[in-house]
Amino acid sequence: MSLKDKIIENKLPSHIAIIMDGNGRWAALQGKQRVYGHENGVESVRSVIESAGEIGIKYLTLYAFSTENWGRPQDEINALMGLLVESIANETENLKENKVKLRVIGDVKSLPLEVQKKLEWSINELKDSPGLNLTIALSYSARWEITEAIKNIAIQVKEGLIDPDEITDELISKNLTTADLPDPELLIRTSGENRISNFLLWQIAYSELYFTSKLWPDFRGEDLFEAICNYQNRERRFGKTSQQLVS
Ligand code: FPP
Repeated sequence: MSLKDKIIENKLPSHIAIIMDGNGRWAALQGKQRVYGHENGVESVRSVIESAGEIGIKYLTLYAFSTENWGRPQDEINALMGLLVESIANETENLKENKVKLRVIGDVKSLPLEVQKKLEWSINELKDSPGLNLTIALSYSARWEITEAIKNIAIQVKEGLIDPDEITDELISKNLTTADLPDPELLIRTSGENRISNFLLWQIAYSELYFTSKLWPDFRGEDLFEAICNYQNRERRFGKTSQQLVS
C-alpha cells in the first residue's frame, strides 16, 4: 500500500504550512554554492504543490523568504529574487493547469519592483482557479505581521470605530495577513531544525508540528504524504481530555 493510499480522505488537514529549510546545506554537501540548493528547491516546491492538489488539500502556505533573510549576503538575496521572478514566469501556466490560486503574504512593498510586478501578474492570471489556494510568504515574519495588526487595531480604536472591549481573538485574526485562511492544522519543517523561526506564530497555536531531517531539495510529494499520515495518527485535543473527545 502506497503512502498516498494510506491517507484518510475525511481526516485531511485543510491547511498545511511548510518551512522550507536546508537548501544551503544541501548545496554544501555537494560542494556547490548555496544558490544551487535554492534552484533545486524549486523542484520540491513543484512536487509538493502538485501532490497537495492531487489529494485535495485546500490551502498550502510556503515560507520562501523571511524578514530576517534580508540580512543574508547581497548576492544570495539577488539570486533568490531572480529565482523567484524566473520561477513565477515559468510555473504560472503549470499552476493554472493544476487549478492553483496564488496569493502572497508579507511586506510585499519591500521586494524588488520586478518581483512585485511578476507576482501581481501571476496572481491575476490565477485569480479564477478553483483548486489549491497557494500562499507564498515573502519578506514575512510573524512579529512584523502581528505588529501591523496591532497598529491597525489601534487606529480603529483611536478613530472610535471599535471599543477596546471589542478586541477579541477573532478580531486579531481578521487583522492578520491570513485573515481569510483557516489556521494550519499541520506545520512541516524540513532540515532537522526544531524551531518556528517567526512563522505564523498566532495561527499555529493549535497546529500539529512535524519535523523531518530531509533537506528541502530532497523533499517530494511522497514526503508530504508521510507527514499527513503521521498527522492523521495524532489525537488533537485542543486542551480537552481524550475521554471528552470520545464522548
Ligand atoms: C531555506 O534554506 C530556504 C530559503 C531561505 C529559500 C526558499 C526558496 C526556495 C525553495 C526557492 C524559490 C521558492 C519559490 C516559492 C518558487 P536555507 O538557505 O536557510 O538553508 P540552510 O539552512 O541549509 O542554510
